[in-house]
Formats: sequence, C-alpha cells, structure tokens
Amino acid sequence: MCGIVAYIGPNDALPRLMDGLRRLEYRGYDSTGICLNTPEGLWVRKDIVRVDTLDQTLTDAPRANVGIAHTRWATHGGVTQANAHPHLDGPNRIAIVHNGIIENMAALKAHLIAEGVEFRSETDSEIIAHLIQQAYQGDPEAAFFVAIRQLRGTFGIAACFLDHPDVIIAARNGSPLVIGLGNGETILASDPQAIVSWTRRVVYLNDREVAIMTVDGARVRTLAGRAVDRADELLESDYSVAERGDEPHFMLKEIKEQSETVQRCLTGRIQVDEGNAKLGGLNMGPRELVAIRRVVNLGCGTSYHAGMVGAMAIEALARVPARAEIASEFRYRNPIVLPDALFFAVSQSGETIDTLGAVQEVKVKGGEVMGVVNVVGSTIARTCGQGVYVHSGPEVAVASTKAFTSQVTALLVFTLMLARTSNLSLEQGQRVARALLDAPARIAQYLANPGPIEQAAQAVVGARYVLFLGRGFSFPVALEGALKLKEIAYIPCEAYPAGEMKHGPIAMLEPGSPVVFVAPRDSQREKAISNMKEVQARGARVIAIHSEGDDEIASMAWLSIPVPQTEDWLSPLITVLPLQLLAYRAGVMLKRDIDKPRNLAKAVTVE
Ligand code: G6P
Repeated sequence: MCGIVAYIGPNDALPRLMDGLRRLEYRGYDSTGICLNTPEGLWVRKDIVRVDTLDQTLTDAPRANVGIAHTRWATHGGVTQANAHPHLDGPNRIAIVHNGIIENMAALKAHLIAEGVEFRSETDSEIIAHLIQQAYQGDPEAAFFVAIRQLRGTFGIAACFLDHPDVIIAARNGSPLVIGLGNGETILASDPQAIVSWTRRVVYLNDREVAIMTVDGARVRTLAGRAVDRADELLESDYSVAERGDEPHFMLKEIKEQSETVQRCLTGRIQVDEGNAKLGGLNMGPRELVAIRRVVNLGCGTSYHAGMVGAMAIEALARVPARAEIASEFRYRNPIVLPDALFFAVSQSGETIDTLGAVQEVKVKGGEVMGVVNVVGSTIARTCGQGVYVHSGPEVAVASTKAFTSQVTALLVFTLMLARTSNLSLEQGQRVARALLDAPARIAQYLANPGPIEQAAQAVVGARYVLFLGRGFSFPVALEGALKLKEIAYIPCEAYPAGEMKHGPIAMLEPGSPVVFVAPRDSQREKAISNMKEVQARGARVIAIHSEGDDEIASMAWLSIPVPQTEDWLSPLITVLPLQLLAYRAGVMLKRDIDKPRNLAKAVTVE
C-alpha cells in the first residue's frame, strides 16, 4: 500500500513528483523512491527514508520531463533499499512503481527465474518490470498489456520506458489512480491531493483499466483492450494542506480541534424545535427511515470503534437492531444482506480497501450502503454515492482523533433522525437534539482543563501491560484508548468489557499494574464500581475517567480524571478525549514519531 505519482510534460518533473509524494505520504512512509527518464538512462534514487529526507539528497538529480515516484508501505519484502520502488527490468530500460499486492507472485516469479531473470528485490512488484521487458518488442503499450493481463491481485501501476520518453503507462485494479490533465502536461497520482497544485481537470481510472499518458492527455482502454471514452471532471473540493501552526504535532493540534470539528459536523443538521435532524446526503425521509429494520456499521480501526458507538446509540434511542462489523471480516464471510437493512461504511480516508470491499459486497447482494466519510470525493464516498460527510477537515496525524469524534457525531445525528420516526416523542427528540448541540461546549470544557494526564502517562510509560476497561458505551471508548496507546506509544495493552475482565485478563494484573477505567456516571456505573474493586483487590492502580462530581469513584481511584457529565449515549465524545491525550503524552515521553508511528499508514489500501 503506497503512493504513486508520475509526470510527463514540458516542465521539470522532479518538483512535481516530490510535491505529490509529500501529499501521499499518509499512504505509507517506509521508503521513498524516484525514477527520472533522461536521454542518458533511467536515473533512480530510492532509500528507506521519508520524502523530505530523500528530497534533500536530490541536488545531483538530472533535469527530466518524465518521471515516476513512490512512497512505500511494505507488504512483500522487508523495509530495505532494494525493496523500495521504483523497480527496473534487467537491462534498466523499463521502470515501474506499484501499489497493491500481486497474488500470483510465486508462480510468475518461478517462471521468470526459470527464464533466467535475476531479481534484485524480494517484492512482488519487481515482477511487473520483468514481465513487461519479456514482452517488449519495441511497442511499450503492447508489452504493458501482455504483462498486466498475467497479474492477479490488486494494483495501481505506473511504468516509464527509456526508449519511449513520450509515454507513461498506468493501470488500475483495486488501487486508486487519478490522472490530472494540465496544459501540455499530464500527471498521475494515487489521489487528487497530489495533483491539485498543478491542475483541477482530472480523469479517474476505474478497475481493470489502462491509461496511456502523453503530454497531450490520456487515452484509456480496458484491460481487455476496448477503448474507453471517459469525460474529464473538475475537482471542486478544497484540498488545502493542513498547517500544524504552533503545535508540536498534528496529533495534538487535531485533538484540540475537536470542539470545532464536532460543531462543524452538527452545523445545519439539528432541528431543535422539531426534535429532529436532517442529513441531506442520505436522501431519506421518514417513510424510508421507518422501513429500516436493522443497521450495520462497517469499518476498520478507529472507524470500527466509532461504528460500535453508533450502533449502541441506534439500539438505545431508536430501538432498531444495530451492530458494527470489522470490514475485513464482513466482506469474506458471505454476509447476509437483507433488503430492510441499512449499511454504513465508516471511513476517515474513504480509501481503506477492506471497507471498500465490504461496500462492494453489500452492493453485489442488493443492499443499501451509505458512506460516513471525511475525505470528500474519496473512493468509498464515490462508490456509495450517498452518505454523510463528517467535515472534520484534513486529518494528518496517522492516529485518528478528530475523525473519530466526528464519525460518532454523524452517527448520533442519524440516530436522532431514525429514533424520531419510531421511539422518540417530540419532547424526547428535543432533549436529544439539545444534548447533541451542547457537545462542542462540553468538549471545549474538558480540553480547557484536562486533569492529571501527565501523571497517567508516567504510570503507563513504565508498564509492561496496560488494561483498558469500560462497560456499555464506554467499552468502545476503552478499545479506542488502547488502540491509540498501541499506535502512538507502542505499549502492550488491551481493552475489555469490564464485566468480562474476570474471565481472563485479570490474571495479567500485578501490584501496580495500570488499569484505565472509563466509568462515567451512566446506567452501568454501579457495576463498573464493582469491577473497579476487583481490580484494586489485585493491587492494580486504577486511572479512572469519571464524571465531574463523582466523589465515590474519585476517592477510590489511584488517579482521578474528571470529565463533564453527559447523557450515556453522548459520553464517548467526552471520555475518549483523556485517552487520546494519554496516548499522546506517553508517546512524547517515549520520544515516538507521533504523527507517523512505525509500521502504520493513514490509509490502508491493501488487504
Ligand atoms: C488505518 C489507520 C487507522 C484507521 C484505519 C481505518 O489502520 O492507521 O488510524 O482507523 O486505517 O481508516 P479509515 O480511513 O477507513 O477510517
């Protein structure tokens, strides 16, 4: 899973390629590489460094008008210079970059080796360069088709040819590619953000399509060879690059923005007088809403946790059966898709391939699926066609924070709409609407006075194991807190429903073990207190996230972190905040790479 940029035109390719890569680094940052097509040969520089670092080493790069570039997230083959892209064929006359996974790698590689091909890397991607070379008899397009037709799996590919500097050829199957049409120049990239600085006129490639790019634009053919007549589109979204301002990290900046981002997600959507809400992008009136008999929220990582909160709220307020499912599991288990179910694909980036695969599975089975997406115009948003944009603005830090609270907010707005058609009276609807509108103020109130996060971070930093516990709405919050601590600080931890803790994880506790307990004043509070006592009886130190004024929990806890009191179903928007800050501070103490943690990527575009 990686980012691809390619350029062909009259201008210097290098700054365009590097600018594009910088904007695609969220897709992976294990290594970076570039190939410039010059009359003297294909000039390649690649290394296990970030884009900015590679850029600094390029002072000796030749001027070229054609090039391809890549930022990598390793799948096949370790993070080494040899495995970084671009990859060349044997004679160094063809270069390729690849995003995706070639599933029939073993068979193709064995065949190439038998033919005498020598491999320089452990990647599946290098096969593509050799396959093109083997088929090459002077016509790059013909050779490219022969090669690509042999591939199984997912790919976004760009190839350039020393003998044909007038062309770049690209193909897509499962890994997005978009072509920017400039004035006498053509740019290819994994997503529009890498293109908008140069042009807003674009053509999206669909799966199983090949683009033959020249300075005059792109000719598109299907993999079967049929010509495709695809009109270009104008990019209208705001793709401005987020600035870090005075904050030391994007993650902290994004945590602090949450009052504002949740507000933005609510704006224009809540109707207090009617005790109702409106989400225009769903195109659903009360008649469509009452027909919904079940709701399924699909997502991965943080988005899955947001889906869990949403599902619980739907059941609690609308009394409609709802659940969240991990998209990668859902798509391959031949799921039951009933006609009266509504599916939501929850995704910050809108590019996560497992979530996209789940969307396609729902569609194949005739189901209704809508996006809950942040990035406007992203693949999932376009594939669903309908849905809710959460409007949290660009989220740069790899660990998701503000997108989570916005996704939860969007699902709560939907919950109100759905609940109002069935379970909620006007007065009850008005109460929910007011509570939702009050959320940004409660978030701001907490962030202005976040409590003893520093002490909590010190406790977890030295720990061998941290347990996160919560019941009801606080269980997905505990999961999200543990995910953040793993992602940012690399501290071993797990989250459990507090009542389930005695069935196993309690064996992990030793005197002094930190246990982060999410226990706001809600319907499960009494039970949570009992679980807290069980933990304390084993000598563990309870770091309690509890409602302000709850002196009983405050006095029991080893460390007390009070948060503003809200309704049960709204509490995740508040209780998650100290957990985000805890992971952040722990990561800073351990000198982790906060915004780009090891091994992760912002959008996971491989399975
Ligand atoms: C990656 C990121 C996670 C994110 C997940 C889903 O694993 O590291 O932070 O939650 O993908 O991403 P999405 O863009 O679909 O919300």
